[in-house]
Amino acid sequence: MKPRITVVGSVNMDLVFRTPRMPAIGETMHGHEFRQIPGGKGANQAVAAARQGADVSFVGAVGNDGFGDFSKQCLATEGIELANLATVQGIATGVAGILVDDSGHNSIVLAAGANASVSVTQVEAATASIATAKLLLCQLETPLDSVTRAIQIAHQHKVGVILNPAPAQDLSDELLGLVDYLIVNETEASQLSGTSVIDQASAKLASQQLLKRGVGTVLLTMGEHGVVITTKDSSNFLPAIKVEVVDTTAAGDTFVGALAVGLANGLNIVDASSEAQYTAALTVTKLGAQTSIPHRHEVLEFMHKQKAA
Ligand code: RIB
Repeated sequence: MKPRITVVGSVNMDLVFRTPRMPAIGETMHGHEFRQIPGGKGANQAVAAARQGADVSFVGAVGNDGFGDFSKQCLATEGIELANLATVQGIATGVAGILVDDSGHNSIVLAAGANASVSVTQVEAATASIATAKLLLCQLETPLDSVTRAIQIAHQHKVGVILNPAPAQDLSDELLGLVDYLIVNETEASQLSGTSVIDQASAKLASQQLLKRGVGTVLLTMGEHGVVITTKDSSNFLPAIKVEVVDTTAAGDTFVGALAVGLANGLNIVDASSEAQYTAALTVTKLGAQTSIPHRHEVLEFMHKQKAA
């Protein structure tokens, strides 16, 4: 049977400009191309989990507009259950303005729109969906009070909690104490631990500090520098999978969604992280968020090829 994962999170339409380099302040420059691609950290993680074989339920909000209709249609095509995806009148669907330069790096500006309307009441109305899931996945592109409520409900019903605190913001020890798996990049880890993460040693130190703040397991993702996995009994480092970088957008989201499916299927944290790394590596080889997230058969083929090489 497929594991069921509930995602409480954001839906954005990504307005993506491919550009030779990042423009300077005050500069106007020509880019290579423009694309409109469905995104949002919550929606991306939901799509990643669905493409890796989970049954996914989504809790979030879009506006009553073209971006919202298209985003909803994309999520429905993935087989994601949308009974708790609200369509809000009079507020625009979330939008992300994304610049991707020739090295594949990006800069993102968000206009939260309908994502900001995801309320505690809406989350409480989705209690059945959270309480009966194998895992809950949350990020921070929806309001912190509603994310907190979702995590409390999951914890109360003994549902495992994965939090990807992106974009970074300060969080209480009380909330971190309810988180089973915290997935952070260098910036988020630095902000939440107070230790500046610049290499593997500082990543381990920051992770230890996050454990002290109450988190169960910390996965500190460092892009091309690999992943540090820290539990109270162990510390593991997985080097990154080398690929040709086209666009790193949604690589982190793919890692989170794939990790959730691995854990929900009973893999241990190191094996689940390793599979999630292969999944995220494929995402980096294509442009865009949901356009680049691979299906399970592509990941299996890729892992097979890489291990045989
Ligand atoms: O993590 C990538 C995502 O961040 C993009 O899809 C964009 O919508 C922003 O939410």
